[in-house]
Amino acid sequence: MPTQKIRSVVVAGGAGFIGSTFARLLLERGYDHVRVFDKLTYAGNPANIADLEGNPSFDFIQGDICDAAAVDAAVAGFDAIVNFAAETHVDRSIMDPGEFIQTDVYGVFTILEAVRKHNTRRFVHVSTDEVYGEVASGSSTESDPLAPRNPYSASKAGGEMMVRAYVSTYGVPALISRGSNTYGPYQYPEKLIPLAVTNVLEGTPIPIYGDGRQVRDWIHARDHASGIEFLLRHGDHGEAYNIGGGNERENLTIATIILDELDAPSEMIAHVTDRLGHDRRYSLDTSRIRALGWRPEIDFEQGLRETIQWYRDNRAWWEPIKSGDFAGYYKDNYAARERIG
Ligand code: NAD
Ligand code: TYD
Repeated sequence: MPTQKIRSVVVAGGAGFIGSTFARLLLERGYDHVRVFDKLTYAGNPANIADLEGNPSFDFIQGDICDAAAVDAAVAGFDAIVNFAAETHVDRSIMDPGEFIQTDVYGVFTILEAVRKHNTRRFVHVSTDEVYGEVASGSSTESDPLAPRNPYSASKAGGEMMVRAYVSTYGVPALISRGSNTYGPYQYPEKLIPLAVTNVLEGTPIPIYGDGRQVRDWIHARDHASGIEFLLRHGDHGEAYNIGGGNERENLTIATIILDELDAPSEMIAHVTDRLGHDRRYSLDTSRIRALGWRPEIDFEQGLRETIQWYRDNRAWWEPIKSGDFAGYYKDNYAARERIG
C-alpha cells in the first residue's frame, strides 16, 4: 500500500478510449497533476481529451512508451504512472502482430525502467481478462494460469510477465489490473459495440463472426476507470486484480439490443467467417477487488442505451475516423470474410 497519497499521475495511452475516461475521472476527483503521455497512433485521438485542455492540472505530451528518453522525462517527479498505452485490437493483431509485441511488451519494459530509476511510488499496469484465454465454464480468478491464444492477448501476457519480474527482482512498486470488455463513449469504431452502432447508423450490416454465441463480460468505461483509480489507492504491490462488470452477454444479444434501439431490422445482422482462434468465452471472478470495497455501478442495458445515444449525437467524432484510414482497415479485415448467414 502507498504510504502517502498519490497526487500526480502520468496516464500513458491517455488519448485512447479508457485512458481518456480515466484522465477525466482523475481530474474530477481532484488530483493535482494529470499528464497524458500518448503516441497518438491511429487509435489515439486529441478529440478524446479536448475537454481537458485548459485545466491547469492537466497537460499532454506526445510520445512513445518504447522511447526510453521520452518516458524518462515524462515520469520524472510524478507520484505514479498508469499504463493504458497498447495496441488493443485482436483482429489487427492477427493481421499484423509485430507492433503488438513492440508496444505491449517492450513498451512495458521501458516504463518499468523509468519507474525503477525515478523511484516512482506506484505503477498500475492495465491488462485484460484475455490473458486467461477462453474459459468454457466458471470464472477466472487472479491465481489462474495465463493461457493467451492470440497475438494481442499473448503480448499483454508478456507485458504482465515483465511487471512481475520487476516486482520480484527489483522491488518495483507495481500492480496489474485485468479488465473485461469495455464499452462507452469515445471507443474507436473497430470494436464490436461502436462498430455495430455506427454501421447501423450508416445503413451497413453488423458483421457477426461465426454463430455470434461467443460471450464477453461487459463493463462501462467509467466503471473500468473507477476500478483502476481504486487500485491506484488501495491495491497491493505485486498483485493482479480482475475488474469486471458482471454482464456476460452473447455477441448476438448485443447486436439485437443495438438494432432494437435504432429501430433497425434483424436482417442487418450478417454472419461472416469467424475470427481465427476466436476465444469462445471470457468470465471474471471479481471477489478480490470487491472484498477491498470496489464494485461497478452502471447498469449494462442503461449504459448501452446511453452509449448508443452518444454515437447518435456525436457523428462529428466518428465520421472522420470511419472515412479516414479506417476504411482501408475495414476492407482488409472484412472484404475477405464470406457471408455465412
Ligand atoms: P485504445 O486502442 O482506444 O487506446 C490505446 C491508446 O494507446 C491510444 O491513445 C494510442 O495512441 C496509445 N498508444 C498505442 N501505442 C502507444 C505507444 N507505443 N506509446 C504511447 N501511446 C501509445 O485502447 P483502450 O481500449 O482504451 O485500451 C486501453 C488499455 O486497456 C489497453 O492496455 C488494453 O489492453 C486494456 N483493456 C482494454 C479493454 C477494452 O475492452 N477496450 C478491456 C480490457 C483491457
Ligand atoms: P472486440 O470488440 O473486437 O473485443 P475482443 O475481441 O477483445 O473481445 O470483439 C468482441 C466480440 O465481438 C468478440 O467475440 C468478437 C466479436 N466481433 C464480431 O462478431 N464482429 C466484429 O466485427 C467484431 C469487431 C467483433
